[in-house]
Amino acid sequence: MTKRLELYKCEICGNLVEVVLDGAGELVCCGQAMQRLEANTTDGDREKHVPVFIKKDDVLEVRVGSQPHPMTDEHYIQFIEVISDDEVYMKRKYLKPNEEAFLKLKCYDIGKMSAKEFCNIHGLWENKND
Ligand SMILES: [Fe+2]
Repeated sequence: MTKRLELYKCEICGNLVEVVLDGAGELVCCGQAMQRLEANTTDGDREKHVPVFIKKDDVLEVRVGSQPHPMTDEHYIQFIEVISDDEVYMKRKYLKPNEEAFLKLKCYDIGKMSAKEFCNIHGLWENKND
């Protein structure tokens, strides 16, 4: 069974999918079950991966890590995603090597939210703004 907003990865080809709506079945790719990703479970440095929320006036900035994460061709943040706790608001920013790993949004009244980021080596990381 899959749940909305879960991320799954194929260990063979690297396909990464996010569930849009709950489903009863199992996700399969390359002939085997895809692995559900759990945030903050790899051996990467927390300081370079856990998203950080910085509010300035009416702009909320989500930065990847309290210390800068590498953004090289070999090791970089592939995307940052923000989702409000009520799941009404969502924004995703895709990144490339040599770009700065941040996402900015206007501070609408969206309350509590979580931010996820995906490192091509150290996987999924998440934090909440409370
Ligand atoms: Fe990393």
